[in-house]
Amino acid sequence: MTQIALFASHIQHTRLSQSELVEDLHDACWMIEDGDQAGHDWCEQEGYPGYTSYASLDDLPQRAPAFAELVTQLDAFAHQFAEARYWDLGSARLSCDSLWINILGEGGHHSGHIHPNSVISGTCYIAVPSGSGRIKFEDPRIAMMMAAPPLKRDAPEEAARFAYRTPTPGDVLMWESWLRHEVLASQTEEPRLSISFNYSVVE
Ligand SMILES: [Fe+2]
Repeated sequence: MTQIALFASHIQHTRLSQSELVEDLHDACWMIEDGDQAGHDWCEQEGYPGYTSYASLDDLPQRAPAFAELVTQLDAFAHQFAEARYWDLGSARLSCDSLWINILGEGGHHSGHIHPNSVISGTCYIAVPSGSGRIKFEDPRIAMMMAAPPLKRDAPEEAARFAYRTPTPGDVLMWESWLRHEVLASQTEEPRLSISFNYSVVE
């Protein structure tokens, strides 16, 4: 008997090249958080359980050199991702069209979502205290599993319908933007700090 595995979903795990950059990004994120009143107002209006610059700032690389350096490294990782997936981009290129800070405290979570209008999305982790939320990925075929049997408890991750990761500072995870994911609720008061991003294809 032969089992053939097809149509896998891929998550790329890389790390920032210098630990000092993680420290610089940590400081830069708190500097931005401290000065972004519009962002805090948006979080309060929308019930965001923490702080995000998602709706208020679209120019982080111009605000601190650490963010510009981050984008330089992310560009290389996005290129690796495209190569690993055999994407033929022709004369087009990948461009980081959004980059934003997320800070979640106790109970902070981000429910399941995809990232529309992008091809690669992901997160760079800056502070992940013990007890802060894991990231959970969902099998993209789950909407078609109306009669799929449950899995055995010891099913390997490659067969599972959900996958979980607990990143460490400096980790960068990237996936295709259609892959649904969520951040589970944090059980610690210590802030979980990350920087998320989207890449699109531009000519
Ligand atoms: Fe996300």
